Amino acid sequence: MLDSIHVRGGNPLFGETKIQGSKNAVLPIMAAALLVEGVSVIENCPRITDVDHMQKLLSDIGCIIHWRNRSLYINATNVNVSAMNSESVGKMRSSIMLLGAMLGRFGKVVMNYPGGCVIGARPIDIHLDALTKMGVKIEREKDYFTATCEKLTGSVIELPLPSVGASENVILAAVSAKGTTVLRNAAPEPEIIALCDFLKAAGAKIDIHEEKGKVTIIISGGNRLSPVSFKIPADRIVAGTYILGVLGVGGHVFLEDAPAKHMRAVIELAKEMNADVSVSDKGIAILADCITRPIPYLETAVYPLFPTDLQSQLLAILTIANGESVICEKIFEDRLKIVPQLVSMGADITVNGNTATIRGVNRLRAATVEARELRGGAALVIAGLIAEGTTIITKRQYIERGYEDIARDFRDLGVVITNT
Ligand code: EPZ
Repeated sequence: MLDSIHVRGGNPLFGETKIQGSKNAVLPIMAAALLVEGVSVIENCPRITDVDHMQKLLSDIGCIIHWRNRSLYINATNVNVSAMNSESVGKMRSSIMLLGAMLGRFGKVVMNYPGGCVIGARPIDIHLDALTKMGVKIEREKDYFTATCEKLTGSVIELPLPSVGASENVILAAVSAKGTTVLRNAAPEPEIIALCDFLKAAGAKIDIHEEKGKVTIIISGGNRLSPVSFKIPADRIVAGTYILGVLGVGGHVFLEDAPAKHMRAVIELAKEMNADVSVSDKGIAILADCITRPIPYLETAVYPLFPTDLQSQLLAILTIANGESVICEKIFEDRLKIVPQLVSMGADITVNGNTATIRGVNRLRAATVEARELRGGAALVIAGLIAEGTTIITKRQYIERGYEDIARDFRDLGVVITNT
């Protein structure tokens, strides 16, 4: 079957692989490049389809973009918003990240509502309410909205929840605004820090404060931004995916560049499962036996607690733990989608609302399963590592949104795995 991954399971992982640049860091930074008249150089840029889509959106409005080795060169000197192809915006959720930057550059954006996706409705109310406080007028139509502002003005904004995307849009609008913006209850994720680091390197004035677990970001707007070269940090979710893979089947691997300082929750979980984990600024080495210990209860939460983007991968390995585990998804309302696929491989899982109860079985059996969204697809690959026989995961394009080549990486770790 085309666009599939074939993975032969049942063996531990041995070897080393290099962790790609972070999807969730590079997308807002590509949007930020729109605010720079000149050539921004994004180093260690992951070759994933979400970057391809963002590249098309930016090219549609006149950016000149090209790759050189693993760096992306974005020249945003001559851009023109009216050229934006609005339905291509609707094709990709993270296009919403262009909203703040486009308002900063053009003062007007017509944008389709970015569709929801398999994991949830993905509303943008928090984004729009926050921008309204900065002087943006939003006119809502059925399928699209028009956002206009004479001049973005700095404001005090408290997010009702620490939304990653809404935080990014406010920051990207605030650097162009007149005056100072105080963003309270901002998302604390490392990807927000990376965006601020890029903008500060380009000349923006941004201060980040943390108090009692709440993050406040203060942006003094109006500084002209200059072209910079910026290295994208390694992807903590890709690295976390591979750590969970090792916990699923055992082995001894080295994950080069893995950003251990941003991976505390999954490293602690590995240690609770008696894995030996050693970290350095070069990466993470992990030595583990095949999982045995169940997890009585774990819920996903805002950074630095256990990330929702690793929840499906954790579900997959708990299918063979010795006992009952309970996983509660607290960030997205519909992110237990892979349960039926795991059950088709012999897992014993029941779902009640946003909570999955997993009763460990002796082993999973190979099957043909279908990826339906990014991290669920990656979790099916991990289930394939565990299952006896060769599992086929179809629709690998979903996985390629965020993983450069998951088969290449697991092949580095000794797995018999191919893309077809
Ligand atoms: C970002 O999505 C990431 N995507 C997601 O990664 C990640 O899971 C998520 O943050 C949480 O960490 C990118 O960075 C491109 P949110 P985002 O706004 O910004 C609700 C992956 O697999 N909400 O923090 O969309 C929302 O429905 C992807 O790489 C509103 O209600 O996440 C969700 O329940 C998946 N109204 C919660 O907040 C809004 O206006 C957190 O969403 C915005 C969000």
